[in-house]
Amino acid sequence: MEARDTEGAKVLVADDDRSMSFFLTELLRSEGHKVLQAFDGLECFELIKKEEPDVVLLDVRMPGLDGLEVLKRAKEIGSKAQFIVITAFDSKEIGVEAIRIGAFDYFPKPLDKDEVRIVVKRAAWVKALEEENIALKAQRESRARFGGLIGKSKAMRALYDQMEMLLDVPVTVLITGESGTGKELAAEALHYLGPRKDKPFVKINCVAIPDSLLESELFGHEKGAFTGAVERKLGKLERANGGSVLLDEIGDMGLAVQAKLLRFLQEHTVERLGGSGSIPVDVRVMASTNCDLMERVREGRFREDLYYRLNVVNLRLPPLRERPEDVPFLVEHFLEKFGKAFGKKGIKVSEDTMEILLQYQWPGNVRELENAIQRAVVMCKGKLITPELLPEHIRPAEGPQGRIHKGAQEETLDLSSRLEELEKKLIMEALSRAGGRRQEAARLLNVTRQTLHNKILKYGLEGWDEM
Ligand SMILES: Nc1ncnc2c1ncn2[C@@H]1O[C@H](COP(=O)(O)OP(=O)(O)OP(=O)(O)O)[C@@H](O)[C@H]1O
Ligand SMILES: [Mg+2]
Repeated sequence: MEARDTEGAKVLVADDDRSMSFFLTELLRSEGHKVLQAFDGLECFELIKKEEPDVVLLDVRMPGLDGLEVLKRAKEIGSKAQFIVITAFDSKEIGVEAIRIGAFDYFPKPLDKDEVRIVVKRAAWVKALEEENIALKAQRESRARFGGLIGKSKAMRALYDQMEMLLDVPVTVLITGESGTGKELAAEALHYLGPRKDKPFVKINCVAIPDSLLESELFGHEKGAFTGAVERKLGKLERANGGSVLLDEIGDMGLAVQAKLLRFLQEHTVERLGGSGSIPVDVRVMASTNCDLMERVREGRFREDLYYRLNVVNLRLPPLRERPEDVPFLVEHFLEKFGKAFGKKGIKVSEDTMEILLQYQWPGNVRELENAIQRAVVMCKGKLITPELLPEHIRPAEGPQGRIHKGAQEETLDLSSRLEELEKKLIMEALSRAGGRRQEAARLLNVTRQTLHNKILKYGLEGWDEM
């Protein structure tokens, strides 16, 4: 506590008695605080709004608004200041009332110099501590998402850190990951959270378009470049100038277009089909794929040189089964999203439903989870989603003892890793049931709090209990 520096706190002294105000101001300035003065309640309230002081010394009896009224209004507008109310010698009730409304403390007159010094210092210290807490909380919360991506597992947080570093650096990024893991959301986040956010973000799906058409989509064409080219058309690269482009499912791009794309990545210019001259274009290129591009390189279906050009940085979206700890956050997010969309707010999932969602392997990743929740919200008659509302294949085929994990990509029978898997799931379930309170979760698991703490660290579940 001593180490914390509360000197230099901004203190507002509000008292209509000028000699009292002068006395307090001098005293607090000599303590190193920056002091502002108000001589009536309205002026005081205005200064609270405008100057956001750390501590306010409030005389109860003031013209305009009395001290308690100022305190009430300040609390209503969410002032974070600490208030110390100065009452008449014989009015303890008013002091108590002030504390009930949210004052930090009160002094009856006459004031004792040392007491004022100490209490103001303490109030400033509490204010600094609260600010620190708010900042830490905001930091933690912001780490629970990045743009539209939700999740605060270790893997996702590492991904956000990596993405953060890429925001200002327009290098080419290859986004990989299974279907439904959020590759498109990641590309959107890189664009919309970065300095190019006010410029175009253009997506091109390479699967759906035949090669010749893709070429003209990307690079554009001049009038008469081919039969049917009745007028000039700008390509998507050119239209995205200054912004970003996402080449979705790049693995399906044909070899001829790959060659042209490679040239674009080397020279940063485009040549329209049938055009004569190159046009400089500045776009950030992102490409995504859920296939193994290296495999395609080996098969001769993808150019190796293009692969290396694209893969300057690789963002790998982890599959959902590698981060079940994100499931509750995603569920909450989708409940809110579909609750709003279908006018069904306040729906929750039951404990046994959550247990099933945590056990399931999610081969379709977040998209599959999103669909499951959407369907459940639509079908839900009350306020609680129960297991019958989940798609049948998600539900375990047997009772809790002999659960079959359908959709598992590969089941290992290695005893110790299976036991660890089970342990991790039980811990998550206990934390979930206990609403994140570790003491309660430890009780449910019948282990000590310390043991639980160690296991939380071991399985990277920190943050999971801060729901
Ligand atoms: N981390 C996440 N947080 C919130 N929503 C997500 C997340 N990941 C995916 N989604 C949602 O899941 C759906 C699929 O995401 P997206 O289209 O980004 O996946 P993808 O990896 O591009 O899939 P595909 O390979 O099939 O194209 C979208 O509705 C998206 O909003
Ligand atoms: Mg996609």
